[in-house]
Amino acid sequence: MKVNGKPYRTIWLKEGDERVVQVINQLRLPHAFEIADLVSLKDMCNAISNMTVRGAGLIGASAGFGMYLAALQAPDHSFNDFMRQAAADLKATRPTAANLAWAVERMLATIAVGGTPTHMRKLARDAAVAIADEDAEHCRRLGEHGHALIAAVAQSKSGQCVNILTHCNAGWLAFVDFGSATAPIYAAHDAGIPVHVWVDETRPRNQGASLTAWELGQHGVPHTLIADNAGGHLMQHGLVDMVITGTDRVTRNGDVANKIGTYLKALAARDNGVPMYVALPSSTFDFTLGDGVASIPIEERGAEEVRFISGKTQHGDIASVQLCPDTTPARNWSFDVTPARLVTKLICERGLCDASEAAILSLFPQER
Ligand code: MRU
Repeated sequence: MKVNGKPYRTIWLKEGDERVVQVINQLRLPHAFEIADLVSLKDMCNAISNMTVRGAGLIGASAGFGMYLAALQAPDHSFNDFMRQAAADLKATRPTAANLAWAVERMLATIAVGGTPTHMRKLARDAAVAIADEDAEHCRRLGEHGHALIAAVAQSKSGQCVNILTHCNAGWLAFVDFGSATAPIYAAHDAGIPVHVWVDETRPRNQGASLTAWELGQHGVPHTLIADNAGGHLMQHGLVDMVITGTDRVTRNGDVANKIGTYLKALAARDNGVPMYVALPSSTFDFTLGDGVASIPIEERGAEEVRFISGKTQHGDIASVQLCPDTTPARNWSFDVTPARLVTKLICERGLCDASEAAILSLFPQER
């Protein structure tokens, strides 16, 4: 997608020096657009855990490039041991997004067929690039399927603006390009369908306010930032035609882990007859899990993310301020699980399907 008119992905190999992986530093958005250079496995692990890069698809692509950086560092005499440890280090960075372990396992399987460390380094480079390319292509394709849904709503409203609510950032910043929840929105907007997006601020890290609002603005998509708790009120007053979110992990029976607060949006949507769509590339499915509430690992991050908030002061500086009394304890669950029964359809690169085991497996028969 474009930033100030120039096309970018969220992660790429540095032109002229492929020992360096470059990423958009998402900790600096929306107030500064900066590129960060990552040159080691440790750099990549830190970038994932401190959320310089974040979002399910981008975490997966970053893990792929992290394995490539590890392959560059690995000594010839202990290459396989080094790579196994690198895989464990990367998997430990964040627990919820399925794309992370999926990408690490794919990298291990790909390099395993190499005969020498030199050959394995080349395989690792090509596999990391392939994972990133595939993520972008899958998001582009699921965008086409979701676009048809938005077009149908626009037609039913005789061409009036389609109001879409989204939570957190499942935009192109959360993937390599296009995004999951946003891909249908960008496709509809580019096709001339009038769309407007209600952007949940998404406490505590405010990915909606800082990232989704920024990227929709860069692309010229009309949007309005709302407090996290406003969605139910808007739905009661007919101001939301559809909810589209992304997801970090979907079980084989269609339960959806996504940013904390998604479940409440799904409940409000069901109560108000608003369709709840969840968009994902196939790398986000976890076919090994059934009941999502019981089995999806939910990341718990530091309490300071709830107790403090950061932003730009009226003088233009970035500052962090404390919201609560000095001694107030806090807990910070990052994700929740929306049961499949509350999901209207999943939007995947292979098409739309119900959030049920039978429907998911009919799109992915190899997982039966
Ligand atoms: O904690 P994050 O920012 O990595 O969380 C990911 C998200 O932005 C959302 O949960 C998103 O809707 C799914 S990731 C594409």
